[in-house]
Amino acid sequence: MTTQKHYTGLIERYRDRLPVSATTRIISLNEGRTPLIQLQNIPRMIGKDVEIYVKFEGLNPTGSFKDRGMTMAVTKAVEDGSEAIICASTGNTSAAAAAYAARAGIKAFVLIPEGKIALGKLAQTLMYNATIIQINGNFDKGMALVKEVANHAPVTIVNSINPFRIEGQKTAAFEIVDELGFAPDYHCLPVGNAGNITAYWKGYNEYATDRVCGNRPVMCGYQAAGAAPFVAGMMIDNPETVATAIRIGHPQSWDFAWAAQKESGGWFDKFSDEQILAAQKMLSQYEGVFCEPASAASLAGALQDIISGKIPEGSKIVCTLTGNGIKDPEIAMQQCADAKPVTIDASLDAVKRAILDCL
Ligand code: F0G
Repeated sequence: MTTQKHYTGLIERYRDRLPVSATTRIISLNEGRTPLIQLQNIPRMIGKDVEIYVKFEGLNPTGSFKDRGMTMAVTKAVEDGSEAIICASTGNTSAAAAAYAARAGIKAFVLIPEGKIALGKLAQTLMYNATIIQINGNFDKGMALVKEVANHAPVTIVNSINPFRIEGQKTAAFEIVDELGFAPDYHCLPVGNAGNITAYWKGYNEYATDRVCGNRPVMCGYQAAGAAPFVAGMMIDNPETVATAIRIGHPQSWDFAWAAQKESGGWFDKFSDEQILAAQKMLSQYEGVFCEPASAASLAGALQDIISGKIPEGSKIVCTLTGNGIKDPEIAMQQCADAKPVTIDASLDAVKRAILDCL
């Protein structure tokens, strides 16, 4: 009998392609190796012959793709002797930073826009014991402050301007190719600060250069209509969207994201909050996959472009679902306001009636 090696995270798995040495102390929570789930019902419902896969990054240890970047960023921060990390965040980066700092035994400071991060993200960041600094300004303001304060205090920035974040996150592209045996024709993902589209494009390029795959996908970046600087072609000052994770107007990886779009022959587009929420609900109801609102922008975009024919039939498409739906219980409850639970007597008769009434 062969004993399978215990999975210990993406740095171990892809160490040949990551900036670590044999002596590096790896800070990991066994992130990565997330499921690539092929949608079964939605393609049939739209009547199109396409293969749509969702890369469910919400199943990472803190519930988002940020764990991929954070294992790498915190590993390198610790290797460099740093005792504290800092980030600005719309919620997921803060949760990941806090968790990996706890794992490493260092301190995490997170700047978040007051009242604008989902409840689950706040709760987990508190539990991981980060120091939370709320600001009366948005993510972009927080990001500017973090960049400034890092010049005045001994803290390592772990936002995606930290190149090690991109290194970690590029492994999602590796996993997709390793699993499918090829790169998809189209890769659809939500875009906020634009680190993730940068990372995927880097990953696909590295694999294509080394001939691990023969093709590279067209990169499709989808934004919320009220926070769509890439669609506007310029930074915007007061981003607004129900998808708070991508409520960003001044993306840091501006040039990298444009390079991904241009080099891959891809595009950016924007979707209303209603369209994003409809896609989130559709995915839950018809596929049993519950992602957070921002994540659903990828499916909203893919479906629109498949239906219009911009993404042709016969295509293989991967949508990244960046975060877990249970991070944002308030939006979920609003989405299901009409589906109130019935309250009945605790008797066999009443339960029977409740069931028969619904069939
Ligand atoms: N989806 C989710 C769930 C996110 O949390 C983010 C970014 C994105 C998509 C966009 O990814 O920034 O690489 O383009 N969240 C950051 C945060 C900004 O602070 O958690 P991106």
